[in-house]
Amino acid sequence: MQVTVIGAGYVGLVQSAGLAHLGHSVRLGETSHDRIDELERGRLPIYEPGLHELFERARANNLISFHADNHAAVEGAEVVFLALPTPPDGDGRADLSIIESVVRDLAASLTPSMILVVKSTVPVGTNARLRTLLDEAGCSASVVSNPEFLSEGSAVDDFLKSERIIIGTEHPSDAEVLRRLYEGLPSKLVFTDPISAELTKYAANAYLATRLTFFNAISNLSEEVGADVVEVLRGVGLDRRIGEHFMRPGPGYGGSCFPKDTSAMLTIARDAGYHFPILEAVIQTDRLQRTRIADRIEAIFDGSLEGAVIGFWGAAFKAGTDDTRESPALVIAKELESRGASIRMWDPEAETSEFAMATGPIDVVDEADLLVVATEWPEFLRVDLSEVAKAMRGDTVFDARNLLDPSVVRSAGLTYHCLGRPRI
Ligand code: UGA
Repeated sequence: MQVTVIGAGYVGLVQSAGLAHLGHSVRLGETSHDRIDELERGRLPIYEPGLHELFERARANNLISFHADNHAAVEGAEVVFLALPTPPDGDGRADLSIIESVVRDLAASLTPSMILVVKSTVPVGTNARLRTLLDEAGCSASVVSNPEFLSEGSAVDDFLKSERIIIGTEHPSDAEVLRRLYEGLPSKLVFTDPISAELTKYAANAYLATRLTFFNAISNLSEEVGADVVEVLRGVGLDRRIGEHFMRPGPGYGGSCFPKDTSAMLTIARDAGYHFPILEAVIQTDRLQRTRIADRIEAIFDGSLEGAVIGFWGAAFKAGTDDTRESPALVIAKELESRGASIRMWDPEAETSEFAMATGPIDVVDEADLLVVATEWPEFLRVDLSEVAKAMRGDTVFDARNLLDPSVVRSAGLTYHCLGRPRI
């Protein structure tokens, strides 16, 4: 099938490579000439395991082409995916101006048989809004909702093995085209109406954010009452109704999705006249998690961080990605810096201009008083902690991801602090 993907961002790149892997011929539209140049030269603007290989294969099989002009990109397409950003506006609402202006502009080039598929996370009612825009432009191409559920760091696998693909359309013939498009994937196809499809995406992200925030609160409570959160979660997770996934204690959620989508969902509820206090509490509780960690670190320095040197392992918002958007590591580091500490960072993939970046895991703790483990990179488990102890001025490790083995840290002569385990 001939397919177009508009937007060579994270979602668009994975979608393009994944569809080419299924044998479709993909035309990728991207207005940034620099990005197109990079892609033409075989370079990807993001780090995502397995993506480079899929792209190389697609290029070798002539299944992907890059277009700086969206009109040229949609030529001959049966399906046109929109994978465009929906950043939050000042109120936390998803800003649709980019999508709307692209759709208005594209309307002249979309033929009646084309299906415009919205991949981006968009507020409930957006599909209907785009339908109106197309009608106003005299364009009768269909609009279908197909929200993406990829996680950064495992996006290629998520595309190839996702549990479900949600397709929101009122038209059986469009549903059939999408069914054929995704043929070959093991995922369950869920056909529904566009509004339900749009809400499904927000409901999934808001639930996951709620769940991990709840378990972070259980971790904090474990600290207060002297319980061990690892034991508590083991016992809780064995209940099949609850399960063991997505309950790792940490510094709260970051990235480009949960912070944006939880706020956007609140505005969706507010606009619909529905009071959603659970979600308000999740957003507030999550913010407090980073402050709580900064407070605990400050307490290690007897309440004064003036002159303290702190090295960070991890700048990315989670392991497996170079993305630092809304990264808890950066929020905690800024908080500590504002209280007088000086910060250095090291991350296996991510870069940030906000702090001095070190060249490696030992360099970052050179003459440091404390090491913060801020991202759960498995690479950190392979660092020789006796080298860390030798390089540091102080001897304290604060593991904000409960990544390291406490006994290994202690046997290197270091003092260990982590989340929700006050007695280990
Ligand atoms: C999230 C969802 O998991 C995807 O299903 C969704 O498609 C995507 O948002 C999106 O809307 O585009 P992502 O933001 O890439 O994916 O990352 P997650 O792995 O979900 O992690 C989100 C945050 O939760 C990270 O800061 C992570 O460190 C944190 N987290 C996750 C925890 O603190 N504990 C956990 O147990 C799991």
